[in-house]
Amino acid sequence: MVQTLALNETLKNRSVVSLMEWSPAEIQRVLYTARVMKQEPHSPSFRHALEGQHIALIFELPSTRTRVSFQVAIESLGAKAVIFEWDQSQLGRGEPIKDSARVMSRYVSGVVARVKDHDTLQEWRKWASCPVFNALTNRMHPFQALADVMTVWEHFGFMNGLKLSYCGDGNNMANSLMVLGAKLGLDVWIASPPGYQPDASLVSWAKGEAELTGAQIHVTDDVHAAAADAHVLVTDVFLSMADDLESGALKKAAMLPYQVNQTLLGLARPNAVFLHCLPAHRGEEVTDEVLDGPQSVVFEEAENRLWVQKSVLYHVLADSSAVLGG
Ligand code: CP
Ligand code: NVA
Repeated sequence: MVQTLALNETLKNRSVVSLMEWSPAEIQRVLYTARVMKQEPHSPSFRHALEGQHIALIFELPSTRTRVSFQVAIESLGAKAVIFEWDQSQLGRGEPIKDSARVMSRYVSGVVARVKDHDTLQEWRKWASCPVFNALTNRMHPFQALADVMTVWEHFGFMNGLKLSYCGDGNNMANSLMVLGAKLGLDVWIASPPGYQPDASLVSWAKGEAELTGAQIHVTDDVHAAAADAHVLVTDVFLSMADDLESGALKKAAMLPYQVNQTLLGLARPNAVFLHCLPAHRGEEVTDEVLDGPQSVVFEEAENRLWVQKSVLYHVLADSSAVLGG
């Protein structure tokens, strides 16, 4: 157990942009620690791990889970969260990120940012001298995917070779699940309508990475083939926060056949579980029956955001002399 809590020097001061840049061993390490933290929520081992640190949370888009779970994770490690809204700061009036990031780095030891455009997050990463944590962009939602694979691992007891099928928009969740599936040896199927599938360049990267772990990556418009014998069915909203709403009606119409309902879930294995990052648009990408049904693990999944974030912050920001007796 101590082995899983021991700080991994390669994670010290690392940012989380997409997790494409993290090795399978590093991802497994934070997942192990997250599970230990969850099993021992009152352990004194972590209470002071980040004492004296301040971590900024910046939101350009709305959030419930990310905002609260990051704040709780930060404060349960002994640090303080400094939360601010993009449009109430000088960022909203056009102050360049290259200036804001260098200023913030003088005040805090980490920046958690939810921004519309992935390039904006990369700009923060480029200019901040502290670690930057991606709390969602139009392209990636890495902490959500970490929580998802943790939930799957807890449920089945292993990840390797499981068939995880994502049905719907080839969005930030589809991308992040492909990245983690490729890194961790899960078989990931993405079923999306033509025109809404993940970028070919990312799919090609994931297939290359999958060759190293034995995972398989499939992208298809055949939602029934994706759902067949799946261990895990996943979906997400048809329209994401950063989407252009003008073409929303057209997109929703294309997505409707990809809805996860009881008939689609019936094609998966009898012991399959259903995941959704939430918030859900009930009656669109998922029916009430599935979301509230016995195979849904969405609230366990939501809880696991807290544990994966606490684990990553611990590994990235804790000083080894302050934890586990040094
Ligand atoms: N799943 C997720 O990121 O939820 P919030 O938008 O509420 O943070
Ligand atoms: N794909 C969704 C995820 C919300 C947590 C969005 O970007 O709005």
